[in-house]
Amino acid sequence: MSGEASYRARSVKGMRDLLPPETAVWNAVEATAREVFGRYGFEEIRTPVVEETELFVRGVGGATDIVGKEMYTFADKKGKSLTLRPENTAPVARAYAQHQLASRPQPLRLYYIGPQFRYERPQKGRYRQFYQIGAEILGDEGPWTDAEVVVMLVRFLEALGFEDLDVLINTVGDRESRERYRERLVGFLSPLADELGEDSRRRLDTNPLRILDTKSPREIELLADAPRLRDSLNDASRAHFDEFCSALGACDVSFRLDDRLVRGLDYYTRTVFEIQSGRLGAQSALVGGGRYDGLVEEVGGPPTPGIGFAIGLDRLVECLPERSELTVTTRPSFAVVRLGEVSMLDAIGLSEELRLDGLEVIAELSGSLRSALRRADRRGSAYAILFGDDELAAGKLTVKRFEDGYQIEVRREGAAQALRDALGLENPS
Ligand code: HAM
Repeated sequence: MSGEASYRARSVKGMRDLLPPETAVWNAVEATAREVFGRYGFEEIRTPVVEETELFVRGVGGATDIVGKEMYTFADKKGKSLTLRPENTAPVARAYAQHQLASRPQPLRLYYIGPQFRYERPQKGRYRQFYQIGAEILGDEGPWTDAEVVVMLVRFLEALGFEDLDVLINTVGDRESRERYRERLVGFLSPLADELGEDSRRRLDTNPLRILDTKSPREIELLADAPRLRDSLNDASRAHFDEFCSALGACDVSFRLDDRLVRGLDYYTRTVFEIQSGRLGAQSALVGGGRYDGLVEEVGGPPTPGIGFAIGLDRLVECLPERSELTVTTRPSFAVVRLGEVSMLDAIGLSEELRLDGLEVIAELSGSLRSALRRADRRGSAYAILFGDDELAAGKLTVKRFEDGYQIEVRREGAAQALRDALGLENPS
């Protein structure tokens, strides 16, 4: 605290504080996820925020935007390269391999909620520290598992009030199908290379499938006649995809096939999907996911199929349809205020007693009575408990409802119960 240079601390660009009452919405969304995912037998996993850089280079893929330009990578004091996790599927696969989770009953159903970090250009719905709610099923390669994951995701979003969700699905095939397609696509695009943008020209060598989800109108036009991935599928990949679609139908989940959906991470095999929300603007996905049958092996575990998704929680909160329903706090809050000479200790003692009996109480003890009442009202307390000399002498409390000024007296002895009875509040369960 030298006071020499003035310093106005600010959060880092692209990283923000979540303040109340917004945090109540986040908590309600997270509680809904835990509840819905729990019904499908998912259990929580928490992995570290920092991992070895190599995990993402191998897992997510060196040619992806994430690894190529978006990672927060740094050397620790011994020079080891570490990275703030840009996503959580590779860490889950790492944990699965590291802790021999294959020896538990399979498949394993895991979910996570937490911050991720990507050095992207910040804008609405895009942050450098953002949050994901994700779920993964490891150890089952059947198409029914793909459907289970997507159905659970849709049920979760429905529970939050989303309607008419646009569920886009596609298959990128197994490795063999994808190799075959890659060659055909490169064969089609190479003669057109001069007409492609710089990014796509580079991807022609590194990651040609990614060209398919270009945003450039000119490239979209060029791609209209491109060979379709679905026509390069081998029988096994085609059957998997067909059964996945049938299973979604059997669960009454509607979806759209999108040939150009390829996703930006290298670990995907076969099923991929995204959910977009009109409220986010055309190019932003709310959820992305897919199957990653080679990932666990890639990070040192046994061959293990896997499928999952991650929801962008920041984006989800920004486009929640029924926000207000999630924010309602059902517990009214009481403000204890002092009148006259009642001692601070009596007022603090009363407040603490009421809290121990399950009420939400804020002790508004400083300043004048008027200022204490005004603070309590602005803070949103439902009732003021006036505790003064008369009340102390008579063994009573005066309770005033802010909303309409309605006022009653209750006995001091066993005050919490007396308040509940008088105000018609429920007993804590
Ligand atoms: P992803 O598509 O990279 O997939 O990210 C999933 C979601 O995270 C996106 O749809 C978006 O809502 C949100 N998101 C991504 N970047 C940002 C950002 N900078 N700011 C705000 N939100 C963002 C994955 O991360 C895969 N791990 C998903 C997965 C799980 N696949 C299989 N299992």
